[in-house]
Amino acid sequence: MSVLVTGGAGYIGSHTVVELLNSGKDVVIIDNFSNSKPEVLDKIKEITGKDFKFYEIDYLDRKALEKVFEENKIDAVLNFAGYKAVGESVQKPIDYYTNNVSGALVLLDTMKKYEVKTFVFSSSATVYGDPEKVPITEECKTGGTTNPYGTSKLFIEQILKDIYTSDPTWNICILRYFNPVGAHQSGLIGEEPQGIPNNLMPYIVRVAKGTLKELSVFGNDYNTKDGTGVRDYIHVVDLAIGHIKALDKLEKERKGLFIYNLGTGNGYSVLDMVKSFEKATKKEVAYKIAPRRSGDIAACYADPKKAEEELGWKAKLGIDDMCRDSWNYIKEK
Ligand code: WQD
Repeated sequence: MSVLVTGGAGYIGSHTVVELLNSGKDVVIIDNFSNSKPEVLDKIKEITGKDFKFYEIDYLDRKALEKVFEENKIDAVLNFAGYKAVGESVQKPIDYYTNNVSGALVLLDTMKKYEVKTFVFSSSATVYGDPEKVPITEECKTGGTTNPYGTSKLFIEQILKDIYTSDPTWNICILRYFNPVGAHQSGLIGEEPQGIPNNLMPYIVRVAKGTLKELSVFGNDYNTKDGTGVRDYIHVVDLAIGHIKALDKLEKERKGLFIYNLGTGNGYSVLDMVKSFEKATKKEVAYKIAPRRSGDIAACYADPKKAEEELGWKAKLGIDDMCRDSWNYIKEK
């Protein structure tokens, strides 16, 4: 089974390529390094001892993409290519809709041309907007997204539903990620946000390292146990394994459209994360309470039952593993 992985040099893409190779699949990666680094490819080989094909292309480049399908027997596609910084998406909506939505359309149209209809899409819990309830199930209504990043995910989910309606021989799995954190236990691959991190964990590790002075806790007046934002943090390796289970499901079903939350079902507040990080790493994290960040919601965590029942997948790694592995990746850099 040969799997095409777009954005395979990125944070979640690279961790998923490791699991794909470890499960015996042949992999073809495309990446344009707009939010990743070439050395990640060597690290994947070092971790797995396995090789894969690589094309440095932009998935928006139809001609280049067709060449990949001409030169390889592709059985399934995992789409990780996409910009994902919420704050940046508000400043650059055209870039985000072009790269995320138009890119997905070029990819799907090329798949159709080459009769490849097995597709796993990286969606996000952001599609639930301010969720109607927590824990969130896949039946919760989607919409009310508060930024172009989240809206681009919503648009692509709708595109996939419309494609499936037009041709039910497609075989599609939509995976709604909660908050991916952590790094491979080897410390060779991990999260490398460019510039000042938007997300909590990359910020915490840089404060622990002394690169950044202190963490601003965005609000402590939410209706949560300690007033700070609650999220469902999931180890990136658990998330990667969820993709293997999704591919297995599609291989078994042969056709269908399936949607799953990939979360742990546990909600942790910002202050929980600070305390867990300090306990797991023995490093101090200085912080101050700051005003709320616009667009943030109080609480968001998954009901992961459907993925457990239908994919046989359940997150295994806990918050201490997430903190320890995040620190292990960055501490020597
Ligand atoms: C988590 C909590 C903040 C930074 C977004 C996207 C989601 C996914 C992950 C891509 C919140 C608080 C954060 C800081 C803080 N994107 N915080 N100080 O916003 O839940 O989710 O990123 O995969 O799709 O929506 O993640 O890590 O930015 O914030 O207090 O410096 O930490 O307010 O409560 P978020 P986050």
